[in-house]
Amino acid sequence: MKFISATVFLGMCFLFISCGGARVDEGENFGNILESDSGLTLTESEHAVGWGKAECTICHNLENIHLVDRSGGLVDVNAIRERTLTEGEASCVDCHGTNGIP
Ligand code: HEC
Ligand code: HEC
Repeated sequence: MKFISATVFLGMCFLFISCGGARVDEGENFGNILESDSGLTLTESEHAVGWGKAECTICHNLENIHLVDRSGGLVDVNAIRERTLTEGEASCVDCHGTNGIP
């Protein structure tokens, strides 16, 4: 019994650390999206699931994106995150294009 509970306990610690780390420290990660052909602008082929949908925050938590600069210093992710938290979904179009919404 002792052995089993210790194993479960350690397993739970590990789960907590790995999930917590990914969520809190790095957020969503699609690599350096500035390097794709279209740059920041969304295209149907790279954004199949979300294409044409205006309610970005159904799928993207504003607290969980723009956390890590993967551009190599070209952008200020903190300023971007602050702006999205202030202006909400109205701001996305300025940098990511229309997402197929007329
Ligand atoms: C129904 C869910 C959904 C909605 C709504 C959605 N997205 Fe996404 N988005 C995704 C998924 C899933 C990915 C991961 C790439 C993929 O598999 O399509 C993604 C990826 C992205 C990326 C990274 C793209 C890249 O180049 O890899 C950006 C930027 C993005 N979304 C912005 C937006 C914006 C802005 C909106 C609102 C106008 C939005 N998303 C609405 C699901 C969604
Ligand atoms: C001022 C420009 C700007 C605005 C406004 C903006 N983004 Fe971004 N977004 C970026 C940049 C630049 C990146 C790439 C950051 C990097 O990897 O260095 C990015 C990355 C992303 C990603 C990929 C995951 C990540 O965290 O890197 C998603 C998803 C995303 N943005 C969604 C949105 C949504 C949804 C909105 C509106 C609420 C929005 N963005 C508003 C510039 C912007």
